[in-house]
Amino acid sequence: MATGDKKSPGSGKKESPLKGKKVLITAGPTREHLDPVRFISNPSSGKMGYALARACLSRGARVTLISGPVALTPPPGLRTVRVESALQMFKAARAAFSGCDVFIASAAVSDYRPARASKSKIKKDSPGGRFLRLTLNPDILQKLSRAKGGRLLVGFAAETGSVLENARGKLRNKKLDLMVANRVGRKGTGFGSDFNQVTLLWPSGKAETLKRMAKERVAGRVADEIEKLLK
Ligand code: CTP
Repeated sequence: MATGDKKSPGSGKKESPLKGKKVLITAGPTREHLDPVRFISNPSSGKMGYALARACLSRGARVTLISGPVALTPPPGLRTVRVESALQMFKAARAAFSGCDVFIASAAVSDYRPARASKSKIKKDSPGGRFLRLTLNPDILQKLSRAKGGRLLVGFAAETGSVLENARGKLRNKKLDLMVANRVGRKGTGFGSDFNQVTLLWPSGKAETLKRMAKERVAGRVADEIEKLLK
């Protein structure tokens, strides 16, 4: 047994470095309302984030899941905070960040929101009804990374082109320890699918492209890498 490996008494099984660690995960899309009945969003299902929550839980982590609107049931044994907009997700993530050891940002946060949300339904003949003015949402991961301290940060990059180049830029800008890059906008992988085809990237420049696999297995691989980084 290598030095530092711990066994739980009597089990013969190695104790995971994630055991007892506080893991914060953002998952799913955000919705940015124009009015009470319309919003800007994206097709994220939350499946990747929820699979990550299960993978961390099964290794003994204490998980807080901040979830955008999805049709999934969170696994028992974690704290779930349900949010709708990017601003709400930011507020919830900021409140939980200081107490976490690992932050996994898997949410597909809407980069923009309407500059003004109407309290009543925008009627089709309303003046200016065809024009939408947008304002930038906070980049949750980037903002929180400024107070990174000793925390481990894991991000995702959703790209339709120049996947690795763009993902490396985000890895640097958001001070990540691990980046999971995936191509989106194709059938059978990424948004909404049960499968994902990702490349793992590290700050050292190391990269590993995984074959297309179930999100549950991708989550297991990501959790394995987090364990190695925690050791
Ligand atoms: N992210 C975030 N808050 C945002 C936007 C992104 O926390 N407002 C996080 C995502 O959860 C992901 C990473 O940042 O872990 C990269 O997100 P992505 O949508 O791929 O890229 P952006 O940084 O938004 O850049 P762009 O839209 O220009 O590709």
